[in-house]
Amino acid sequence: MITEEMSEALSRQINAEFYSAYLYLSMASYANAIALKGAANWFYIQAQEEMAHTKKMYDYIESQGSRPALYAIDQPPSDFKSLLHAFEETLAHEKMVTGRIADLANLAHDEKDHATQIFLQWFITEQVEEEETAQEIVDRLKLAGDTGPGLFMVDGELAARVLTVPAGAE
Ligand code: FEO
Repeated sequence: MITEEMSEALSRQINAEFYSAYLYLSMASYANAIALKGAANWFYIQAQEEMAHTKKMYDYIESQGSRPALYAIDQPPSDFKSLLHAFEETLAHEKMVTGRIADLANLAHDEKDHATQIFLQWFITEQVEEEETAQEIVDRLKLAGDTGPGLFMVDGELAARVLTVPAGAE
């Protein structure tokens, strides 16, 4: 059993994960509109991963005998200055999510809620990977160039991404 406060905090995270999916869908649509099919693929898969994160949170709340609250999802931005800008926004967004997960972990610690602390470990590890990947792509875009042949080379690399759904969120 989790406290009402924890249930609400986890439900707010479901909302944040849905917003993440919305944001990456918007970026996929932007990339597609400027003919960067590889980047569109990368963002679309990212959006699907975020949906898997919502399911993990949702299932956990229910497994604890509580009921997830479903809050309204904010509208994401629809335009970006360049692919580099979209990935810089991705990195900033993932850093913000990392902070939110840390806040949840702190709440679980304060409540001596060991089950939720263990549950959140997966998200803590995931965020390290999320930030590292976004940072790598930002770095490669800066190195290769955000226009012309360099951009198309990075776009080709982004086309190779395939969806891997985390265990427990299939
Ligand atoms: Fe669900 Fe990208 O963090």
